[in-house]
Amino acid sequence: MAMATEVGLQQSIAIPETWGHRHLLGLEHLTADEITLILDYADRLQAATEYGRRKLDLLKGKTVANLFFENSTRTRNSFSLAAKRLGADTVEFSSSGSSVSKGETLIDTAKTIEAMMVDAVVVRHSSPGTPHLLARSLDCSVINAGDGPHEHPTQGLLDILTIRQNRGSLRGLTVALVGDIAHSRTARSNIWGLLKLGAHVIVCGPATLVSKNWEKLGVEVAYDLDKILPRCDALNLLRIQFERQAIRPFPSVHEYTLLYAMNQERLRRSKPEIMIMAPGPINRGVELTPEVADGPQSVILDQVTNGIAIRMATLWLLLGRSHPILPFLC
Ligand code: CP
Repeated sequence: MAMATEVGLQQSIAIPETWGHRHLLGLEHLTADEITLILDYADRLQAATEYGRRKLDLLKGKTVANLFFENSTRTRNSFSLAAKRLGADTVEFSSSGSSVSKGETLIDTAKTIEAMMVDAVVVRHSSPGTPHLLARSLDCSVINAGDGPHEHPTQGLLDILTIRQNRGSLRGLTVALVGDIAHSRTARSNIWGLLKLGAHVIVCGPATLVSKNWEKLGVEVAYDLDKILPRCDALNLLRIQFERQAIRPFPSVHEYTLLYAMNQERLRRSKPEIMIMAPGPINRGVELTPEVADGPQSVILDQVTNGIAIRMATLWLLLGRSHPILPFLC
């Protein structure tokens, strides 16, 4: 994509009146047009910032706080970089090492951070609904960076952006989400977004991790990866979340890999242009072999790069309208 000029950029990223959201809590309640808008803005801001080589001051004077009550490498750092690439300041909060260990509650913690005059909090927490609770309790914008197994909207968006950048459109593509569907917030956000943009979605894994009930969402449920493989345009290999499982849902990791790990032999039986995706982190040798993870079909690191673009677009859409320089952009 050609680099936008300052004037062209300012015209192209004016926020349409139809975007009316203060928070991004999930993809379930966004329309196809709203999802497409975020993807379009991500493409434009990725080009305008030249993949990080150029900083913009679109959010100068704004402050974004990362509130992470669970560990993260990709989401946290890319929100931080996204904010900085648009000129915003950031506050970094981790529950470990904080006053949470002294008994401070979630709401008191969030209100304390908000009182430092932040404009948005990005929250990750193990309890589903935490971002929704904060959205009701705070005046600033709230962005869900993963709430337990519920949703991880920016992950869903960056996965979809990666497919769209490779294939041009989602319509008519078959995308399989493989692995630990039961515990996956990424699966839910992908399902909502992919279905709305016209993809056919298959969820595939052991019956202990993939309930037939998923069909009610409009997806195909499959238990045999080898049967669905020749139909798939993209495979998103979801991590087995051992830390969220009270009981191991399959007899052994070895058995899981025999049935569901993406390896060179399975790759040979796939469409030649199949996209191999993983939200990360990956358990190498469990969901996919190192040869496949690092091979030519893999777009795993593109997903990471696109995470910054999606998070810039999200921050701009949520915070840009109230920005004092906005009148000069329209
Ligand atoms: N995909 C994802 O959410 O990764 P992190 O846990 O590293 O943020």
